[in-house]
Amino acid sequence: MLKHLSKEAEETPLGSQSPPAKRSCPDLQEKQTGRVKKTRPVPQVPWNPKVDLCWHALVRGASDECEPEWCNSEDPLFILYTSGSTGKPKGVLHTISGYMLYTATTFKLVFDHQPDDVYWCTADIGWITGHSYITYGPLANGATSVLFEGLPTYPDVSRMWEIVDKYHVSKFYTAPTAIRLLMKYGKEPVHKYKRESLKVLGTVGEPINPEAWQWYYNVVGEKRCPIVDTFWQTETGGHVLTPLPAATPMKPGSATFPFFGVVPAILNESGEELEGPSEGYLVFKQPWPGVMRTVYGNKQRFETVYFKKFPGYYVTGDGCRRDEDGYYWITGRIDDMLNVSGHLLSTAEVESALVEHEAVAEAAVVGRPHPVKGESLYCFVTLTDGLTFNRTLEADLKRQVREKIGAIATPDFIQNAPGLPKTRSGKIMRRVLRKIACDERDLGDISTLADSSVVDQLFQNRCCPNV
Ligand code: PRX
Repeated sequence: MLKHLSKEAEETPLGSQSPPAKRSCPDLQEKQTGRVKKTRPVPQVPWNPKVDLCWHALVRGASDECEPEWCNSEDPLFILYTSGSTGKPKGVLHTISGYMLYTATTFKLVFDHQPDDVYWCTADIGWITGHSYITYGPLANGATSVLFEGLPTYPDVSRMWEIVDKYHVSKFYTAPTAIRLLMKYGKEPVHKYKRESLKVLGTVGEPINPEAWQWYYNVVGEKRCPIVDTFWQTETGGHVLTPLPAATPMKPGSATFPFFGVVPAILNESGEELEGPSEGYLVFKQPWPGVMRTVYGNKQRFETVYFKKFPGYYVTGDGCRRDEDGYYWITGRIDDMLNVSGHLLSTAEVESALVEHEAVAEAAVVGRPHPVKGESLYCFVTLTDGLTFNRTLEADLKRQVREKIGAIATPDFIQNAPGLPKTRSGKIMRRVLRKIACDERDLGDISTLADSSVVDQLFQNRCCPNV
């Protein structure tokens, strides 16, 4: 999901407020016509002359020429912090040549990049999706791209499709959460625009539930655009499981097969490789050019997190099922797996059953400790616009999950969630939801939340007594 510029910030005319004395860069005051206006006219952060530099002052004396800095292929390229299931975020370190080669190649093949394409990835540029598939991959291919900062729902819920028509976007890449958000408003806002230029649609970031997939395919792509459901991670640098458009027969909700050079395996708890249709831990058996090289400043943590549980394999931390046709289906993070009375359940599977109900726009499921069953299912549901939550709907949703998956998956709690705690990249922070389900107020670091006010609201609406 995209960074939100508040309406006020977008609409405040330059110079309509006076900069507070001593807080702003002096240059901002003298250079009213400057183009860098993000913090203007009032800087959002206090100016610290020891560390802050003013853009205008710097560019004034800068040369138009910039000699390249020659580097070794294994020199560090960037560090991107990603949350770990325990402890502080990990600084994922990528290096120059492998990352460039991998993002360039996956971009070219997975989006079937052609010289006359117009490509648009809606991700936040500070997220790995933005690094790999807004900057490196497309730029290395000389692609024409749309860069967008804004919301898919502002000024109205047709915004995405308006932009697609305006710039003749042919390859479009977004997250399931954005698709589910737009699905809530139905087909009409999509049909307002023609979208004839679209050729390939991509998704990334989380398992896409079959309903959202179908809506994306049928309504947005009008059944003529292949969907590339790309599975990858900050750590993998680029796509590792993905269809190739028009070449790979699709199955809604499956990231299909490995990209060239990637060798997946599915392991059981004892680390044995499973053959044929099976479910277990998704691991990779050999490196590929874009794989992370280390956790910055902590090689030991790199080895512990990714290589210790199953020596000789890279452990993704995701659960995965391989079906009878060899397709891979991500079942969610292993740490999102629930164990209810000895049965392993995937949160994604329960969420999908809930979202199939017409009243539900989005769902997030977490485990809540249960004295007898080990864990019980605590479900947060965001309803389709205009609907209200009531006991009948709650019973209906429980019945739906029971019918779709089985009695063992019957939710114990269903809570109305007008909003879900999400990072700026649109990822639901299940860690926070687990705390809400247990009424634990110590949430740890929630600075990456896009809107922390939803958390208070969810605590107020809790629907069950403490155990
Ligand atoms: O659980 C998988 C999920 O996102 C995780 C990686 O998150 P992050 O490092 O923030 O990178 C997100 C953008 C690449 C994975 O471990 N994930 C990502 N893509 C998919 C997915 N789960 C299912 N299907 C996907 N296509």
